[in-house]
Amino acid sequence: MKRLLTALLLLAGAVFLVMPLQAQEGQFGQGATYSEIMRNDHRQIERLIGQLRQSEDHGEMDRLLTQLKDGLAKHMKAEETYLYPALEKNDDTKGMAVKARDEHSAAKSQLQRINHMAGREEYLSRLDLLETLIKSHVNFEEGELLSAAQGVVEEGSMTEQFRKVYR
Ligand SMILES: [Fe+2]
Ligand SMILES: [Fe+2]
Repeated sequence: MKRLLTALLLLAGAVFLVMPLQAQEGQFGQGATYSEIMRNDHRQIERLIGQLRQSEDHGEMDRLLTQLKDGLAKHMKAEETYLYPALEKNDDTKGMAVKARDEHSAAKSQLQRINHMAGREEYLSRLDLLETLIKSHVNFEEGELLSAAQGVVEEGSMTEQFRKVYR
């Protein structure tokens, strides 16, 4: 009886430890600073696209596509409402914000074209293009834009503004 109780307590402990990890999965807007939030969101976006490619179940594809659309909408809103305008105020970073906005519109219109009820080939080829657009945008943001933003943006207040979008 005592052994069973110990085993149950250990199991409860393990479940308790694993739960916060699972809660993280699929959540956008996690991170201590705005740039950490952006990087974490990018990983979620890449993970969802990978899962969409693997899935053949329409119910699951629906769920994943909804998560991707909602997450991308919040992510892009935070960048477009707070980060890009701050970069546009400075001549050194203005061009980067313009390019980033154009890349967002390309990704948004490609996202509208993705329909898992269409044939598998069409669906996968549109998903491929979305992934290419997003990968290139993410590389640009993580490789150039974020480091340029460091000199222009006040981290604490930008992080506060980002959090408003995810609340
Ligand atoms: Fe981003
Ligand atoms: Fe972006």
